[in-house]
Amino acid sequence: MYQKTKIILAILLSFSFTQAKDMQEWLRPSEIPQPKNNKLTPQRIELGKLLYFDVRLSSSEKISCATCHHPKHGWSDEIATPKAIGHEGAVGSRNSPVILNTAYQNRQFWDGRAKTLEEQTLKPIEEGVEMNMPLSILIPKLNAIDGYVKLFDIAYPKEGLNKTTLAKALASFGRTVVSTIAPFDNYIMGDKNAISKKAKRGFKLFKTKAHCIDCHEKFNFSDGSFHNIGLNDGELHGKELGRYVVKPRASWYGVMKTPTLRDVTKSAPYFHDGSVQTLVEASSICANGGRYKYNVKNKSTYIKDRGLSRQEIDDLVTFLHTLTGPDMKLKIPTKFPQ
Ligand code: HEC
Ligand code: HEC
Repeated sequence: MYQKTKIILAILLSFSFTQAKDMQEWLRPSEIPQPKNNKLTPQRIELGKLLYFDVRLSSSEKISCATCHHPKHGWSDEIATPKAIGHEGAVGSRNSPVILNTAYQNRQFWDGRAKTLEEQTLKPIEEGVEMNMPLSILIPKLNAIDGYVKLFDIAYPKEGLNKTTLAKALASFGRTVVSTIAPFDNYIMGDKNAISKKAKRGFKLFKTKAHCIDCHEKFNFSDGSFHNIGLNDGELHGKELGRYVVKPRASWYGVMKTPTLRDVTKSAPYFHDGSVQTLVEASSICANGGRYKYNVKNKSTYIKDRGLSRQEIDDLVTFLHTLTGPDMKLKIPTKFPQ
């Protein structure tokens, strides 16, 4: 009898332990990751914020980083478009991703071609279809603005105002753009009523039958890896090479980074090509074997027809809604250094 109770107790204990561990995976890391040579300071973040919203960083003086990654639109395009619209209305080749939680990513861009935010951040400035501003012109332009020279000197003493410090300042602000506490976080932290029954069913499907967790995992709902989810047919038509651009291996054709699902309700349209308007459609594509089910070269083996009913897709989408928190508290600058 005694023995039996002990066994039952042990089973119960290990069950609640694994359950707690299972929940812990989803918790927010205690600190925002930051490189040793660019630790976050209030001065760096504030400077980066001014630069982020300053249209003088573009050749037309009409476009800032916020044009395509705006806080009022879940950090994606200010005016939702399937593909980014930049300099003089030029249409880029991809949908603007949200810049939420990029601090937690070890690769930037849909194809991961930049490793760090510092490396990533100067590219849109020079890109012809984005801000169209050569750094050889921008750096002297900023050095002629006394207000900026002073702020760089305070944020990066003795480092000067050059492309390295410009990248560091922008990256510092970028790192602070993190998701706020969503109902899901309260649920994970122990408030059992923070999300509805339907959302709980959705979460369960997410982790089990629907296999979303195979790629959208942990706090940021991304494995940081790259997959082809069958959005296009097997032929690449020479268009979207995906990660192949970085690593020219056949298996990387058309493969893209798993995006975060945090605040995903705010950033339609979806996918790298902005081809989908709703979360129901996006989730159905991911759960039911991709848009193109057969003969897609490199399609991930995690993308299979999971046989989800409409009701189950609905539960999943209700769960995705619990990942949206209130907008981050932020004062958008209206006055810029002169
Ligand atoms: C014209 C629109 C546009 C402008 C302006 C723009 N971006 Fe982007 N941004 C994009 C697009 C499109 C991508 C995805 C490109 C790709 O993956 O090839 C992107 C990607 C990113 C990423 C990577 C996110 C991820 O999850 O991989 C970051 C970070 C970022 N931009 C920050 C910035 C900053 C900082 C600025 C200002 C210096 C800026 N962007 C200006 C459109 C824009
Ligand atoms: C094989 C890995 C994988 C699995 C499994 C997976 N996803 Fe994704 N998901 C991705 C990738 C990669 C993208 C971006 C694809 C692209 O744009 O080419 C994506 C994009 C999305 C998007 C669009 C996000 C945005 O900002 O554009 C949503 C929503 C989504 N997935 C939800 C789900 C749901 C719900 C499930 C489970 C039914 C799921 N995913 C299963 C890898 C996966």
